[in-house]
Amino acid sequence: MVGKICGTGSYVPPHVMDNDDLAKIVDTNDEWIRERTGIGKRHIIEEETTSYMAGQAALRAVEQSGIDPEEIDMILVATSSSETIFPCAACEVQRTIGATHAVGYDLNAACTGFVLAFNTAQAYISAGFCRTVMVIGADSMSTLIDWTDRGTCILFGDGAGAVILRAQDGNPVCMAAHSDGKKGPALTQLSRHRKGWENEQNKESYIHMDGQGVFKFAVRKVPEIIEEVLEKAELKLDDIDYFVLHQANRRIIEAAAKRLKVSMDRFPVNLEEYANTSAATVPILLDELNRDGRFREGQKIMLAGFGAGLTWAACLFEW
Ligand code: ACO
Repeated sequence: MVGKICGTGSYVPPHVMDNDDLAKIVDTNDEWIRERTGIGKRHIIEEETTSYMAGQAALRAVEQSGIDPEEIDMILVATSSSETIFPCAACEVQRTIGATHAVGYDLNAACTGFVLAFNTAQAYISAGFCRTVMVIGADSMSTLIDWTDRGTCILFGDGAGAVILRAQDGNPVCMAAHSDGKKGPALTQLSRHRKGWENEQNKESYIHMDGQGVFKFAVRKVPEIIEEVLEKAELKLDDIDYFVLHQANRRIIEAAAKRLKVSMDRFPVNLEEYANTSAATVPILLDELNRDGRFREGQKIMLAGFGAGLTWAACLFEW
């Protein structure tokens, strides 16, 4: 059995900040941000929370799939910015959508989180443990960034995306995942709940990032893991219809496509509208492509994510 996507949904907050709005807060400008990242604007929460956005994305996925929420066996939420440590966001989503028979838990692997949660769901389904799994990526990065640090605050936005997987017969899903804890310091967000944090420099509790280090890592590891999955699946790059990558920076996606010698036509990008929403980028993009009618049954789709840890993961599946 494999998990086939039977519904997708996404939610972004209505409040928008474009690059010109950011230029009023930090020393930056629209041209620099667009040229270096491909980002034009980002949606930012006001009253909303990570669990709220996850719940709204889930409701839209349920509506599209036409399934009864009571059929859902499991809810996985990939997030590193839930407004509560517990209850987990997945249990909040369960309440929102009335998935009374599901078990829910959260999974934190920063920006790689959704692809790892998707792989986890596929493993539960192929083991026969679950039939219907809701997989969500949701993050409020605006709550984690230092809005005076132009090196990071320009990159991120808030949002959530959801997919529902149902067990069906089909070609096996192929996946790979890695982490390199030695490179952890390249991208960190300290917990505000650790002992004594309130006595430390406030700035320490925001995202710290070695931008160029993360950039080089992503450009090398994303093509590598895509090749690794293709080798396992005994397929070629030409067999893949879409490469749906974590949306962190347009230049990273272009560099990965160039290394693989694949046209950018097969690497959809929506950074202009949403910026980097961390675990939410891949499912938001999947939902957009799905609602635009871009997917056909049997098409092969490669997901690839990378982020803090450092972690990176990929999954090849059929629509
Ligand atoms: N506006 C204007 N100038 C800026 C800004 C800004 N927002 N930020 C930096 N600069 C300046 C720097 O101070 C520097 O000036 P200098 O030459 O006078 O010293 C110059 O621009 C170049 O800075 P770099 O850091 O070298 O710029 P770079 O081309 O590396 O782009 C960026 C920076 C966009 C952060 C890039 O490194 C990047 O995207 N890295 C990957 C980051 C990423 O994807 N992180 C998230 C991935 S994982 C996850 O999603 C959690």
